[in-house]
Amino acid sequence: MLTAWDALSASLVEEAGADVVLVGDSLAMVSLGHSTTLPVTLEQMLLHTQAVCRGFSNPPAEQPLVVTDLPFLSYQCGLDRAVAAAGTLIKQSAAAGVKLEGAEPEVLSVIERLVRTGIPVMGHLGLLPQAVHSLGYRRQANDPRSQERLLQQAAELESAGCFAMVLEHVPSELAGRVRQHLAIPVIGIGAGNDCDGQVSVTADLLGLTPSQPPFSPARMDGRGLSVKALRSWLDDQRQQPPPPTTPPAPPEPHC
Ligand code: KIV
Repeated sequence: MLTAWDALSASLVEEAGADVVLVGDSLAMVSLGHSTTLPVTLEQMLLHTQAVCRGFSNPPAEQPLVVTDLPFLSYQCGLDRAVAAAGTLIKQSAAAGVKLEGAEPEVLSVIERLVRTGIPVMGHLGLLPQAVHSLGYRRQANDPRSQERLLQQAAELESAGCFAMVLEHVPSELAGRVRQHLAIPVIGIGAGNDCDGQVSVTADLLGLTPSQPPFSPARMDGRGLSVKALRSWLDDQRQQPPPPTTPPAPPEPHC
């Protein structure tokens, strides 16, 4: 699974062969310039999800599955509002599922309700970017007690009806235990190799973001290469001789 945030990034990850494309709320940072994922709105998630879906060029049956993130506070303010938010994304784009974070009892109720409504849900445990102010960006579930809690929460996500779950920045041994406990696919990021699948933030992978999480190393220096190409074009333009100026027309002869 790879993330995409617009038509161009979608066309790249489709051509690269991603099975699933996540319109992650990380687009708040990657594309909208925020310092956390919290400010992105439902309207912005919809706009970006629509752009991602328009970016594919394969016939619909051969396009990657699109999952889109429910943004912060779109699913924590009551069941009806959560259904309306997820419904907006699913009705007005070609996304086939939504992702949301956590497994608190209120979140489990939302998942059950969405699934009953016919909206597939992907869960997300471990590092929860929407809870950055309480959890930070550090590795989660480092002690036996929090590991047992995470295992329990993962089982609850599955029982609530999630079709898959993301497990972010937890010890790899714990990820393996979660995978063995669950029948649904566990998709890891910074959670080691013992997962059913992996997800990466495409901008990090391409080395486009100014700084990236330690568990998501870049595969190329996308920023360096892009800046070099842009700078060389700018330099070329500045070295062009100025266009010839047209001489002023001779004055009209007087009779
Ligand atoms: O928003 C996002 O990009 C994500 C991934 C880190 C899984 O949730």
